[in-house]
Amino acid sequence: MSSYLLERWSLTFLFLLGVLSMATASPVGPRSCKINPADLPDLIDITIDEISAHLRDGCFSSYQLTSAYIARIRQVNCTFHAVQEINPDALDIAKALDSERSRGKIRGPLHGVPILLKDNIATLDKLNTTAGSYALVGAKVKRDSTVAAKLRSAGAIVLGKVGLSQWSNHRSSNSTPGWSSRHGQITSGYYPGLRPEGSSSGSAVATDLGLALGALGTDTSGSIVTPAWRNNLVGIRPTMGLTSRALVIPISERQDSIGPMARTVKDTAYILSAIAGKCSADNYTSAIPFDKIPEYWRDLNKDSLRGAKIGIPSAVIKDIMNSTDPFRVEFEKAVDIIRDLGATIHENREFTDYEDYKAFTLNFTLYSICGMEFKTGIKKYLNDLAVNPNNIKDAFGLINYTRSDSREEYPDRNVFLWEADTEKLPCEDNTCKVAWDLTQLRYRLGGEGGILGALASAGGPDGLDALIVPAHYAPVDIAAIAGLPVVTVPLGFRSNDTVVEKDERGVVTTAPNEPFGLLFIGKAWDDQKLLNFAYAFEQKTQVRKNGPKQYKRPTAQIKDFL
Ligand SMILES: *[C@@H]1O[C@H](CO)[C@@H](O)[C@H](O)[C@H]1NC(C)=O
Ligand SMILES: *[C@@H]1O[C@H](CO)[C@@H](O)[C@H](O)[C@H]1NC(C)=O
Ligand SMILES: *[C@@H]1O[C@H](CO)[C@@H](O)[C@H](O)[C@H]1NC(C)=O
Ligand SMILES: *[C@@H]1O[C@H](CO)[C@@H](O)[C@H](O)[C@H]1NC(C)=O
Ligand SMILES: *[C@@H]1O[C@H](CO)[C@@H](O)[C@H](O)[C@H]1NC(C)=O
Ligand SMILES: *[C@@H]1O[C@H](CO)[C@@H](O)[C@H](O)[C@H]1NC(C)=O
Ligand SMILES: *[C@@H]1O[C@H](CO)[C@@H](O)[C@H](O)[C@H]1NC(C)=O
Repeated sequence: MSSYLLERWSLTFLFLLGVLSMATASPVGPRSCKINPADLPDLIDITIDEISAHLRDGCFSSYQLTSAYIARIRQVNCTFHAVQEINPDALDIAKALDSERSRGKIRGPLHGVPILLKDNIATLDKLNTTAGSYALVGAKVKRDSTVAAKLRSAGAIVLGKVGLSQWSNHRSSNSTPGWSSRHGQITSGYYPGLRPEGSSSGSAVATDLGLALGALGTDTSGSIVTPAWRNNLVGIRPTMGLTSRALVIPISERQDSIGPMARTVKDTAYILSAIAGKCSADNYTSAIPFDKIPEYWRDLNKDSLRGAKIGIPSAVIKDIMNSTDPFRVEFEKAVDIIRDLGATIHENREFTDYEDYKAFTLNFTLYSICGMEFKTGIKKYLNDLAVNPNNIKDAFGLINYTRSDSREEYPDRNVFLWEADTEKLPCEDNTCKVAWDLTQLRYRLGGEGGILGALASAGGPDGLDALIVPAHYAPVDIAAIAGLPVVTVPLGFRSNDTVVEKDERGVVTTAPNEPFGLLFIGKAWDDQKLLNFAYAFEQKTQVRKNGPKQYKRPTAQIKDFL
């Protein structure tokens, strides 16, 4: 305590000295930096702990760090298209945060750390929030989304907006993951033209290439974890309701979840801790069972799999993957590692309603419930805008706009899902009896007949702690329809002699060195447990660190800006 006060006093003292000696330079911390600039961490690997320590020691300022990230974006955006807009105020915000730091005010671990936001997460600043569509360019909201406001108050710098599968993939039945009319096709760093997966495609590609420390994405049905594993990252779809959806362009109020992705589990946990919490503008957050949001990063422990009970839905994995499938082969190795780390493995923990799930997925039953929620949710979002340049008020207006603006590439990219939402649904909004019945169905297929049933079916009175499955795999949706949390952590890569496959638009779908992940799925509010298991696996395997590198990397580094 006293040494902490002392440190604060000396910080203030050094700051005053600094002000006297270099009145016009941007403020930096005390000059106790012991590291040679050439030895600073590469921005493609740097962690929050490293950034915090170096900011504290005055090795660089947030202003310099932000300048380096902006230079990196400019170097590679033409290739990858991941970053839609850079915040024109980012450098001024960084300067203000440096100045706070030099006065001894440190907001927390994210103080001065640049983060990117998916282009459906609204901000009250110069950035547009468009879901990748020209329909919303120039639109203004009345205030920040809750997650953006929370990031800012934690000291993070909103560096810009990243691209996505347009409308978070809720528009067309014939588009490509990572495409929007504004930025075109985003591609992944691991092979030229490789599909980044979606819908939080830009969040993933930008984080992987070190264009920011990390990013926020949104997930209705796999949209965080899928691009995260495709780009060799950690990502979490938090329990639905742990993070507020207020002023985030919606799909489904009963499935949408906002979450972070980063290059390490600990950094993912830092960002999650900053954005989680109750919010009067999103009443689903009132279900959060704790008074104080856990500091998810604090309790990470590399021994956390010791004594854990981990289940595998073996039949569904076999249903989808050959024993020779590379994902399956790496998954089997992961099972052995998890066992070696002290967990007990429970095979054959099945989803009893899996056949129903498949049938309802095939005939769009599960999609149509999201559709009803989209119709209701998008109407509310559009009508709450402070500035609505094209005066679009609902899904019908979006259909008209999108069909008539040639930049939206209609009908090459159709509006099938909106047509389904507006024409084929049995009721006006999501409050009718049919909507309620479908919601019950959704909870049954994902919950008792899905994840929750499998977790409860063995392992003593409390059941299992988590399920594991290889990425590329349907249970992401099964968790999402019941609002359950999922964490992905890097697991492996396709071999370097894999034959390249492309889709009809020439986007690469299978490539050498393509990354894939391991998913941990659990009960509602078990986000901490899942992060902890992922941490133990990451610390043991270090797959990202030891794996293949991106074919093209930005070269700008902090040392170029000192
Ligand atoms: C937002 O869109 C407007 C209209 O096209 C544009 O002038 C502005 O530069 C955009 N904002 C940013 C930060 O790029
Ligand atoms: C990145 O490239 C895309 C596609 O050309 C473009 O839409 C976007 O505005 C670019 N971002 C920046 C920051 O220039
Ligand atoms: C939130 O409000 C909606 C609509 O008023 C309601 O249907 C829903 O049950 C509420 N959710 C919670 C968690 O209170
Ligand atoms: C199993 O692998 C073979 C050879 O790679 C492939 O032809 C076949 O389609 C695969 N089956 C499934 C169910 O993936
Ligand atoms: C979808 O398929 C399931 C299973 O075959 C059936 O029970 C259900 O009625 C179908 N729903 C619709 C909307 O067609
Ligand atoms: C959409 O276009 C149709 C046909 O042009 C028109 O009748 C309808 O009023 C439009 N709806 C909206 C909401 O703009
Ligand atoms: C491909 O992988 C093999 C075995 O993992 C390795 O020996 C070889 O050097 C790699 N080739 C290239 C071009 O990276």
